[in-house]
Amino acid sequence: MKLDTIIHGDCLKELKKIPEKSVDMVFADPPYFMQTSGTLNRSDGTKFSGIKESWDKFDNLHAYDDFCRTWLGECRRILKKNGTIWVIGSFQNIYRLGYLMQEMGFWILNDVVWTKPNAPPNFTGTRLQNRHETLLWCSPKKGAPYTFNYQTLKALNAGKQENSVWNIGICIGPERLKDSEGHKLHATQKPEKLLTKIILASTKPGAIVLDPFMGTGTTGAVAKLLGRHFIGIEKDEKYISPALERISKIKPVLNEITQLEKDKKKPKVLFSKIIKEGILSVGEYLYTPDKKKVKILPNGQLKKGRLVGSIHQLAAILQNKSVANGWDYWNIKIKNEYKSIDILRKKK
Ligand SMILES: C[S@@+](CC[C@H](N)C(=O)[O-])C[C@H]1O[C@@H](n2cnc3c(N)ncnc32)[C@H](O)[C@@H]1O
Repeated sequence: MKLDTIIHGDCLKELKKIPEKSVDMVFADPPYFMQTSGTLNRSDGTKFSGIKESWDKFDNLHAYDDFCRTWLGECRRILKKNGTIWVIGSFQNIYRLGYLMQEMGFWILNDVVWTKPNAPPNFTGTRLQNRHETLLWCSPKKGAPYTFNYQTLKALNAGKQENSVWNIGICIGPERLKDSEGHKLHATQKPEKLLTKIILASTKPGAIVLDPFMGTGTTGAVAKLLGRHFIGIEKDEKYISPALERISKIKPVLNEITQLEKDKKKPKVLFSKIIKEGILSVGEYLYTPDKKKVKILPNGQLKKGRLVGSIHQLAAILQNKSVANGWDYWNIKIKNEYKSIDILRKKK
């Protein structure tokens, strides 16, 4: 299986050539089957170019469903046991995709609403402005393990737990690929920020990401940027060279975020061992974040007034939580400076 390439062909045929359980993540941005006709004019009279390409045409809804059932089935076959798939769509197709996926045994982990601050208006003023698309994030079956880089997403969200509403502008400016006449090359090029979040959320460095509807190569560009591998499939030849050229200009960024340093499991160290080995002593003090001291007991537990417990139990009680990580909560005083006890784990 050749990595970091775009296969020119129909994904219904090409997916069959990919070995079973061989990819870590699929991102699929399939035809929407918009079923629109005629032209739309902006209020200033200029034409709005929606999706009128032949790739978005199907005879009817049943033909669309059959098409989706086939590529979804192949994606399920090629996903590793702990792999996941992200499928994006709009109101025209996302409900059909969700129904099919549940029927096929996929397990929905989340649906994400991608809101677009710069979405075009409803030019005719006859309906609400359509300002979002929906993503379904699924594992191949209920209960399957999966990668979710919780801490990395939290760090990117100013330290707050990431949620399922993502506000990201549609692709504009230099990121948008243009044809030789300066018009946008592709009607539905997705923003790199969207793919960045998806790939960071659900893959590890070096993972293989497959996109059966590669278009302008957004998935490949972002996968390469983040130090992951990609395989793209695209039926329309006119997108392939521009996509490959775009990807060739990308230099991987291997930093704390892309390498998921925040999600790496810390070594399991018992606090009692820190005392046994003399790194801390019985009778010494640990400090809360607001610098209140607690004493270390001979059995490695902590005592604050009448409260006694492990570093984790006492941290939870003092924060009024059911569970807490004591390594993150407690501090030691070194030369009048307070430092997290987490640094002691690294000394082990
Ligand atoms: C919604 S667009 C994907 C856009 C892409 N995510 C991007 O950022 O550029 C769908 C793409 O799938 C391609 N396509 C449609 N049917 C296909 C098929 N059966 N096999 C492979 N590609 C197909 C179309 O040519 C189109 O480029």
